[in-house]
Amino acid sequence: MPMRAFIRLALLTLAVLRPAAHAEDGYDLWLRYRPVQGDLLTAYRAAATEIVPPGTSSPTSAIVSTELSRGLGGLLGSAAPPAVPAPTRDGSIVFGTPVSSPLIARLHLNLKGLGDDGYVIRSASFAGHHITVIAAPHDVGVLYGAFHFLRLLQTHRPLEPLELSSAPRIRHRVLDHWDNLDRTIERGYAGESIWDWQKLPDYLDPRYTDYARACASVGINGTVLNNVNASAISLTPPYLRKLAALADVFRPYGLHVYLSARFSAPIEIGGLKTADPLDPAVRAWWRAKSDEIYTLIPDFGGFLVKANSEGQPGPQDYSRTHADGANMLADAVAPHGGIVMWRAFVYSQEQPDDRAKQAYDEFVPLDGKFRDNVILQVKNGPIDFQPREPFHPLFGAMPRTPLMLEVQITKEYLGMATHLVYLGPLFEETLRADTYARGKGSSVAKVTDGSLFGHPRTGIAGVANIGSDRDWTGSHFNQANWYVFGRLAWDPLQSSRDIADEWVRMTFSNDPAFVAPVVGMMMSSREAAVDYMTPLGLAHQMARTTHYGPGPWVSGGPRADWTSVYFNRADAQGIGFDRTATGSNAVVQYAPPVAAKFTDLKRIPDNLLLWFHHLPWDYKMRSGHTLWDELVIHYSDGVRTVGDMRRTWASLAGKIDSHRYAQVSTFLEIQEKEARWWRDASIAYFQTFSHQPLPAGFSPPEHDLHYYETLCFPYVPGHSPLPGEKCQ
Ligand code: GCU
Repeated sequence: MPMRAFIRLALLTLAVLRPAAHAEDGYDLWLRYRPVQGDLLTAYRAAATEIVPPGTSSPTSAIVSTELSRGLGGLLGSAAPPAVPAPTRDGSIVFGTPVSSPLIARLHLNLKGLGDDGYVIRSASFAGHHITVIAAPHDVGVLYGAFHFLRLLQTHRPLEPLELSSAPRIRHRVLDHWDNLDRTIERGYAGESIWDWQKLPDYLDPRYTDYARACASVGINGTVLNNVNASAISLTPPYLRKLAALADVFRPYGLHVYLSARFSAPIEIGGLKTADPLDPAVRAWWRAKSDEIYTLIPDFGGFLVKANSEGQPGPQDYSRTHADGANMLADAVAPHGGIVMWRAFVYSQEQPDDRAKQAYDEFVPLDGKFRDNVILQVKNGPIDFQPREPFHPLFGAMPRTPLMLEVQITKEYLGMATHLVYLGPLFEETLRADTYARGKGSSVAKVTDGSLFGHPRTGIAGVANIGSDRDWTGSHFNQANWYVFGRLAWDPLQSSRDIADEWVRMTFSNDPAFVAPVVGMMMSSREAAVDYMTPLGLAHQMARTTHYGPGPWVSGGPRADWTSVYFNRADAQGIGFDRTATGSNAVVQYAPPVAAKFTDLKRIPDNLLLWFHHLPWDYKMRSGHTLWDELVIHYSDGVRTVGDMRRTWASLAGKIDSHRYAQVSTFLEIQEKEARWWRDASIAYFQTFSHQPLPAGFSPPEHDLHYYETLCFPYVPGHSPLPGEKCQ
């Protein structure tokens, strides 16, 4: 073989063997920017011929330029459009603020009402050229607008004429990382923490930038970097310097850092004898600590606090109220414009008659007693991020206090990393729930966005599912939960289906034969999990402490309200927690129309039945089945739906890259196996009370109850086993 031919062949072989430059390992999230094909490509190329950055550059506008170049370069499958000082032809993309770009100032766009973060995207005419303008009152709005513009191309939307305007309905859109300083993550299922404290502040992992970019792409503007079960060490000078280094990376992306503050820090790191919020020395300590933080991080967001909950210290240790505690911290950060996000997830150590009632009982009397810069952070339901709960009764019950909604993006109770459960419908269900606080239409969304009671201070928080796994979130589909949180935080009235649709297009493919079935799978996935785990309003039936797998038999231990039997109340007569007047009467914490509906067996939705009622096994359901039969049917439906999801996915082989396809296939297999485990274990346990056979055609549990009760998984991620801890 002549030498030249040999070299050509060798190069060809190398090219074939070389892995693709972009292995689809999930790192790129929804920002993949893969080339558009066909007619659309011609139209997009014509609509994006050059980029016109603002005359005055800033770190944020430099990021916008880079993102547009990267995005358009990828999507148009060509070199990035050139950057030019002014439009020279049709298809110019001009971006900036009226201050940074004289060109934009000359267009006299109406930018009123866009607030700090909003933007417009407009088709316009300039010097005889058709151009697209991305403009905002502030740089960060331009960045959000650029991501929106790219999303239009990523999801194959028409580009002309554009007449878009968008502003977030919620001001503080925050991810809560439950990350510990040793890089373990409480309830984290995607590897260790991405914050490499040991190497900070000197080494800035490029992942920090990629994280901030991903957050900005969905409008997230705050991040709490440490666990709510906080260590005071994060408030010491070396850690504050590390925090400042991260804040510097995040700042141009509009992302503010916050810290979880340990209430007893003045004792632990301040050398004081008390952390009493009314003690002048304690107040002075927090003021000085805040001043120190703001010297390092002028745009520090503020503190998140878990106090007097699950053993955490708090103001009640000194016979003070939650308002006393929150206000002390609020006073410390107020001069710097900071806020305090005070969690309502509290329950006292004394045995309550119903844990679901505690937060309401604790906080409603404090309505109106908090400083202006305090937001009360309330979980979506009254217990704890269960697959389904009614909305938290605090929503609507504290008109004089701004409330922020807290949801859990990490799937502590929803199958952890491997189960495909799209949380959009869960978040949407809460946001759209009607509190009736001001009559019909008083949704949780309107409480959260401040419109119901006229609060300008608004927020929403999601407990992050992010870790150092290459795909960030432990599975490809878990990325959708980060995504949908951000998109709903921006506009809580959006539909979770629409958001799933755009996420699938950006993350996987625009092929309609792929998009429709995958969106269908995602939309049915949450209800499937509710069915195979906790149907008909059951809750908290997971294994003790780890929360991995079923544990409806869990009983005993330090407190009754940490057990499954406390929540299911199964006995020879029936099942369910009576929260009506004959039971704990928690239902009266809701506005009268809501309470009346939940109390009335004819009107309560089946999916909350056992949350509010204890009913006999032979209770006749709307469907005509007995309660026992209906339970079995729901457990089985959950497993069946996961089987359907597997079959749907199997039918899509070849439509996306093999790497991600294979991981999803395997995870669905795991999910089906575990759904079956949930069903069988739950039925085996409850059957010991119902003493009834399974309805005809339903297969019995694969093993006996003893088998399920003795399964033991001590090393589940997201939880550190205590010395001597037993499984169940
Ligand atoms: C749940 C979770 C804990 C967490 C707590 C919280 O109970 O299991 O790990 O600390 O919520 O929200 O504070």
